[in-house]
Amino acid sequence: MIPEALKRELLERTARAEHPREMAVDVMYALQGYYGYMSDEAMEEAAEIVGMTPLELEELATFYDFIYRRPVGRYVIRVCDSAVCWMEGYQSVVDHLTSRLGIGLGDTTADGLFSLIPVCCIGYCDRAPAMLINRKVYGELTPEKIDRILQKLATGKPAAGEE
Ligand code: FES
Repeated sequence: MIPEALKRELLERTARAEHPREMAVDVMYALQGYYGYMSDEAMEEAAEIVGMTPLELEELATFYDFIYRRPVGRYVIRVCDSAVCWMEGYQSVVDHLTSRLGIGLGDTTADGLFSLIPVCCIGYCDRAPAMLINRKVYGELTPEKIDRILQKLATGKPAAGEE
């Protein structure tokens, strides 16, 4: 169960909404922020808050790439596998990421730090190849740049030679 204060806040926000259902995605994000992903139990909790059935909420959740129905890493790497990125080096980006992380597409590292997911165009075509990590976009990827990004995320510190 989510903390009482969070539940109260979400119930209050839902009550203020013109239609409680319009809060469904916000409520799922809030619960996901607490649990890390939306388990069946979390979906039931969210459904109760917005006055929907878990099935109705499930149908909504399938439209949102950022709602996770299974555990993911702390950092979700979404590597763009659309046309422009394909032409600009997608395969070498994926090869480097899978090699460095030791996982395949769709997997999560054993330490729970990174998940790797291929996605459609993230709108950064002019800086392809590109990827999104959580909400931050990275473009003009090279193996060296990817290493710096991963190191910074894994350690919380910039790679040597970076500010
Ligand atoms: S094709 Fe990769 S960002 Fe658009």
